[in-house]
Amino acid sequence: MKSFLLAIETSCDETAAAVFELRRDARSAGELLRSEVVASQITSHQPYGGVVPELASREHLKNLPLVVKDALLKSGVAIDSIKAVSATRGPGLKGCLLVGWEYAKGLAYARGIPLIAVNHLEAHLNSCFLMPNDQQPEFPCLALLVSGGHTSLATWELPNKISVVAQTRDDAAGEAFDKIAALMGYPYPGGPALAAAAAKPDANKHAYEFPIGMADDSSAFSFSGFKTAVARKIAELSTLDAKERIDVAASAQEAIVEALLVKVDSAVQKNKVKSLLLTGGVAANGRLREKLAHFAAAKQLKFCVPAAKWCTDNAAMVGAAGLAAYQRDYAMYEQWLSGQRADSCLGPDVSFEVSAAARWPLGEPLHGQR
Ligand code: KG4
Ligand code: ZN
Repeated sequence: MKSFLLAIETSCDETAAAVFELRRDARSAGELLRSEVVASQITSHQPYGGVVPELASREHLKNLPLVVKDALLKSGVAIDSIKAVSATRGPGLKGCLLVGWEYAKGLAYARGIPLIAVNHLEAHLNSCFLMPNDQQPEFPCLALLVSGGHTSLATWELPNKISVVAQTRDDAAGEAFDKIAALMGYPYPGGPALAAAAAKPDANKHAYEFPIGMADDSSAFSFSGFKTAVARKIAELSTLDAKERIDVAASAQEAIVEALLVKVDSAVQKNKVKSLLLTGGVAANGRLREKLAHFAAAKQLKFCVPAAKWCTDNAAMVGAAGLAAYQRDYAMYEQWLSGQRADSCLGPDVSFEVSAAARWPLGEPLHGQR
């Protein structure tokens, strides 16, 4: 009988579940993906201009059982065939994480199956393994993770050593997109709308010069000075006409992309890597993809980026990270499943005391983050 893994994601405002076949011999997680469901809460948070944590937790509580049921139905897999569960334990909004994490704990305990704790940021990196074989990363990699909550650049070596090279001192790249978009009147999250305006054929990306934060520090990103400069320009122009709107959008986008590229370039000079990975919600940005692809080609690096649906939050990436952990520590999981369960009833790696972690830096081990 085939075995399957259920993956759960509830760290921010997407409630998501995915079902994977649990097999060791597959070359990519994508080959094993049987179903995925994402319930977005964007319309619930839009009136408030950002994610309202308490509202998000309540939505997860309401949606998660339905999303899991839907993912099982779509995969045609019965709950009895689920032999492992991987769930996002952190980082993220504590109340949101708790919904998915405690649900996963209950499921693992009730069914006597192992629970695999997944770091949400590591899951974003693993989203590249959902892609077809010829697009899979080759190690060692340099990974740029850009989302609404995070901007990190990290090296990634086998078996699973992730070392952060640079991260943001203030806003995340997605936040910078969203805040500029909000100033221009686009509803939350405005990143995609700003990108669409910037992509208009007559938009001039050199119309305005915006600063690159921390240009001389290869270990930090910063978008606060940039944001102030754009806000000033918008105020100075007063009511933006149609051409000014697309020019501000294109110039602001270009400055964000350039700020990211500068740090990637410096990291590539310092670290010997084979692939360049681009992940997280902002990886859906066409201009960023284009510039990084061009850069990677010039440096003879393999450029890996997930399909747009796997850039923003989803459970398939949580399953990919869970499968990778399962395959890495296969002997440990087999031993636990064969009855040698030591003192843990939630799998070899997780005990009841392990709570959801609002803070869990990329590359740090499971325990000790609370
Ligand atoms: O990874 P994600 O779904 O959530 C977090 O973990 O934060 O990323 C969402 C972020 C938002 O800030 C959104 O505006 C941004 O990704 N985003 C984009 C684009 N699509 C999504 N930013 C720029 N261009 C896009 N095409
Ligand atoms: Zn995310």
